[in-house]
Amino acid sequence: MISAPMAEPASASKMEKIVALCKRRGFIFQSSEIYGGLNGAWDYGPLGVELKRNLKDYWWKCMTQLRDDIVGFDGSILMNAAVWKASGHVDTFSDPMVECLLTKKRYRADQSEPQSGTAYYYTVQKTVQDGLTEFVGSRGDFPTAYGGSHYHFSVLVPKGKSEASANKVARQYYAQIGLPDEVALDAQTSEPVENTIKFNPENGAQLSEPKVFNLMFKTYVGPVQDDSSVTYLRPETAQAMFVQFKNVLEVARKKLPFGIAQIGKAFRNEINPRNFTFRSREFEQMEVEFFVKPGTGPEWLEKWKEDRLAWYEAIGIPRAKIHVLTVPDADRAFYSQGTYDLEYEFPFGVQELEGIAHRGDYDLKQHQEASGKPLEYFDEETKQKYLPEVVEPSAGVDRTVLALLCEAYAEETVKDEESGKEETRVVLRFAPRMAPVKAGIFPLLKNKPELVATARAVQKLLQPLMKVSYDEAGSIGKRYRRIDEEGTPFGITIDFETLEGAKEAFTSATGTPIQAGQKDTVTLRHRDSMKQERIAIADLPGYLARAII
Ligand code: GAP
Repeated sequence: MISAPMAEPASASKMEKIVALCKRRGFIFQSSEIYGGLNGAWDYGPLGVELKRNLKDYWWKCMTQLRDDIVGFDGSILMNAAVWKASGHVDTFSDPMVECLLTKKRYRADQSEPQSGTAYYYTVQKTVQDGLTEFVGSRGDFPTAYGGSHYHFSVLVPKGKSEASANKVARQYYAQIGLPDEVALDAQTSEPVENTIKFNPENGAQLSEPKVFNLMFKTYVGPVQDDSSVTYLRPETAQAMFVQFKNVLEVARKKLPFGIAQIGKAFRNEINPRNFTFRSREFEQMEVEFFVKPGTGPEWLEKWKEDRLAWYEAIGIPRAKIHVLTVPDADRAFYSQGTYDLEYEFPFGVQELEGIAHRGDYDLKQHQEASGKPLEYFDEETKQKYLPEVVEPSAGVDRTVLALLCEAYAEETVKDEESGKEETRVVLRFAPRMAPVKAGIFPLLKNKPELVATARAVQKLLQPLMKVSYDEAGSIGKRYRRIDEEGTPFGITIDFETLEGAKEAFTSATGTPIQAGQKDTVTLRHRDSMKQERIAIADLPGYLARAII
């Protein structure tokens, strides 16, 4: 194959293509698909689970193996409800929600796009027909969000659209609340409005007043379902690490600064899950609670920002694609004394991958007060007891998997050497350490037992070291194309030169010379360049292990 210049897919359709590829190749499926799905929940298929595992393993390795100031931890998802009261989640972990009065769909009030146009305000006129309820209204303020009667209604139509289109929406609304068609319906008044967020952008219908909605999933522990058995599915992994701070400190025998790392599921009853897995109701987090001496939080916040940026580069997300947002005071979580959001250029916009927050001593103080148990650190040097400050890099597993998929996805026009035809090659250019499968192994022909036996032997050789695949179906070009779509960085083909000896002397992929006639070499095909070279089978484990570490 010869490659032609890369064609970058347009971003709107790029996301659709990625979603389709994820299903086609078994990265991500909709949860409960055969029952119509469950909004905000996703299943990872055979390739997706490998990708996700590689990501988590690498994070774990970087946090707990390559440094000696962080220890690992795995807390339970269900915790005593007192934890969530003390942490502030019961009282404040909420989003403002609005509801479309027509469709009843719910939206995050703080994420509405401001719109402009003409607002038409309706009331229902007195009817004259017998037996019908009388509805009389006049223009008033927006009706109360819930429980109030909605005889007032309004519709926003964009500039250039007629009153008739507003009437249509209003008519649907009044029909839905049970008013007969005969009721006279006129816009009582209208006015131009600018930058309003009081209407549903999808249909122009009036939205309810914002209502506070707690995002935690409530559940009951044990057989009795009353207030005393209520708890919540954890909305972040962090709290268990605060609550167990003292226990971990004692066994880890660490001095400050030191951290606790955890990877695990978190649950949030998001009002509006969207953008594929980006905003889900069930997701995984990779969090470190890094405990530092009082006063040193700001400098550790800077260090963690740099560490995390370098980490994203190491998994194949270039620095240039990550935007560092210094979260403004007004937007920071109330416990935070400083937060950076690391945002990635997703096809649907620049959005948060990870938050790095200086949480001060808020959490330990809250749990110390609420539990009555001391959580202070005794500083051997100064002989003082104090509550450490905490810097928390908190990354989303699912969002990072999505970023890896978006970053890796590429389409290019290539010419098939046999047919001469141009075709589109879809390739996932994962960094080898993230790739779900590291090498595809192919006997050139499936009906030549010696080729198949050697290919199986190569598979056995590599399996203990890495995830490989074996494929003997179809032409070799098709098989390469399949592993390109799966993001497998290396193809290994066992061909006649493997059995009969190299046709001529050459320098192998490792740089070592291979003599003409030397047996047991294979074709090594590189996913990104599509370059092919030969390598001795004996050199494969070392060469590939170095490439994927
Ligand atoms: N302990 C701090 C904390 O949980 P957060 O900013 O709310 O902070 C951290 O969440 C990360 O978790 C986010 O940067 C994101 O990657 C991931 N995350 C949060 N909500 C999510 C959701 N609904 N779906 C997928 N990932 C989510």
